[in-house]
Amino acid sequence: MALDPSVSMHDPIDLTLLPRNAAVDAEGRLSIAGVDVLEAAAEFGTPLFLYDEHDLRSAFREAVDIFGEGVAYATKAFLTPALAGLAATEGMSFDVATAGEYECCRRAGVPASRLVLHGNNKQPEELTRAVEEGVQWIVVDNFDEIDRLIAITRRLRTSVNILIRINPGIEVHTHKYVATGNRESKFGFPAWTGDADKAIHLVREEPYLTFLGLHMHIGSFVLSLTTFLEALDAAAPLLETHEPEVLVVGGGLGLRYLNSDECPTFREWGEAIVAWGHRRFPRSRILAEPGRSMVARAAITLYTAGVVQQKGDLTFVAVDGGMSDNPRPMLYESGYEVFNASRPLARRDLPVRVVGRHCESGDTLVEDGFLPAATKVGDIICTPVTGAYGFSMASNYNLVPRAPIAFASKGKARLTTRRETLDDLFAREVDPTSRASRK
Ligand SMILES: Cc1ncc(COP(=O)(O)O)c(C=O)c1O
Repeated sequence: MALDPSVSMHDPIDLTLLPRNAAVDAEGRLSIAGVDVLEAAAEFGTPLFLYDEHDLRSAFREAVDIFGEGVAYATKAFLTPALAGLAATEGMSFDVATAGEYECCRRAGVPASRLVLHGNNKQPEELTRAVEEGVQWIVVDNFDEIDRLIAITRRLRTSVNILIRINPGIEVHTHKYVATGNRESKFGFPAWTGDADKAIHLVREEPYLTFLGLHMHIGSFVLSLTTFLEALDAAAPLLETHEPEVLVVGGGLGLRYLNSDECPTFREWGEAIVAWGHRRFPRSRILAEPGRSMVARAAITLYTAGVVQQKGDLTFVAVDGGMSDNPRPMLYESGYEVFNASRPLARRDLPVRVVGRHCESGDTLVEDGFLPAATKVGDIICTPVTGAYGFSMASNYNLVPRAPIAFASKGKARLTTRRETLDDLFAREVDPTSRASRK
């Protein structure tokens, strides 16, 4: 996407970083899908994840439009029963990597036949449930898992669809913690050692394992289309040998977090991949399982400024959340824009560091941001593009209850996940004198 050189970091927040149905009215009030964000903050409290429901719906619709039936949403990016229900009505399948993600989708009414089971160490009970209930397919990661699956399917006398996860072994330009298609990755069968071929043969020989195709996922927050196409080219010899019915290219597309970021759009990415498949392997179905690129832009996080303190040249703005609702800056040094939702049209001239409330110096949400000079205690401070890997990676560090989620649609905000309470924090404690503790 071309950047507008006339937009500076001091200008009011660029609305293209906000959910698709964000608007600022003539009085300078910011709304998401017709919901006034200051009213939402007052009603549900802060920190608050506020999602644009129509933004989510259009992202899921676009994925189905480009890839067709079977395209899966990677639930690790953001998952609640409300989200699963919404994505299912738009025709998505779901990539789940744990019993918890699986259960969440099933509780939302998603049939097992639309679940794709992932993971580098799937537990026996997770594999058993997937086989019993008949998932879309299991993406097999290693030889131990093949042994386990052979035992389970023979015992249950039940077949299951299999994709083999291959690692193309290419250089992936992203943070090393989220690169998975390089040679040091723990995931998948190396394409360059013969292991991938061996795994495919093993699965093909086993009567209860139905080999459907290949899978790869090169990493997350990848901004270059070329890297995806290089990975596909690296996998081409295996595809020529085994002629899979299905090829899943994983997820991993990044998106703009900062004004200065450049990234292909979801449609550009999807259509380039589908075109590669049609050209090189016209008999295979090309599918994907994106997460971040579908949901990140759909949400903003609202905080309340509790401290505005100048220290030398820098003003620290401390908000009522932090690393517990958004660990990405701390984990990956990820950058975010920040703006004052109480003054969305004001120029952002004040250099600030937006920090959280946790007992950790690394608890910084925005290291080098700008806010309007008039920013004061009590203002609603907003970080956009927080719809992915925020809520799903949230923690209770410092025993802070986790933030709620509201979905905005047609001028109404509905709470889909309430704020955690202090009672929730202690709901798992076992009284040493009770019967339960002796079990
Ligand atoms: C196997 C697999 N598929 C898909 C994804 C989704 O990636 P992203 O959210 O970057 O699109 C991930 C994330 O790490 C993954 O591990």
